[in-house]
Amino acid sequence: MSIHPIIKMGHPTLRQVAKPVAPADIDSAKMHTLIADMIETLHDAGGIGLAAPQINQPIQLAIIEVPGGPSRYGEIEPIPLTVFFNPVLTVIEPEEAGYWEGCLSVPGLRGFVYRPQHVRVDYMDASGNDATLELQGFLATVVQHEFDHLAGRLYVDHIRDMTQLVFEDEWLAQQTPDSVD
Ligand code: NI
Repeated sequence: MSIHPIIKMGHPTLRQVAKPVAPADIDSAKMHTLIADMIETLHDAGGIGLAAPQINQPIQLAIIEVPGGPSRYGEIEPIPLTVFFNPVLTVIEPEEAGYWEGCLSVPGLRGFVYRPQHVRVDYMDASGNDATLELQGFLATVVQHEFDHLAGRLYVDHIRDMTQLVFEDEWLAQQTPDSVD
């Protein structure tokens, strides 16, 4: 296993549409190694999600792991480490909420982004089996952020009010004591 460099906004791979992975290629030694490397890279970076394009692999693969519990996003439900190949996202309820998003490929910044808060994800797991997840609230935002990476999009594309794109250290300095963690 190895930790891969995470590419940053400005690298052209982050703006490509990632290629679907052929089902026959999912349950392979090559993919298992790539997934193990992505998990190690995610843990090293301290993130909650990583898409393959962020390590310069433009394929439809993302991993998400949300520890849950109290956080700067409020009390959140956990998602155990989940591997998504070729995910298709369907909005179940279009009602939106906003969160201050960050991204390992946009280090040091935060932006306030509105997204639908009730979605379904159809995908293939690491064994190549069909799977479905229905997610609400913050977790719905997390999957939309990660799957945007597979479509060549970044969270900054969704910011409606550019005064709400800020440096993380300034953002943290402005939080009132009871509004975080
Ligand atoms: Ni990201």
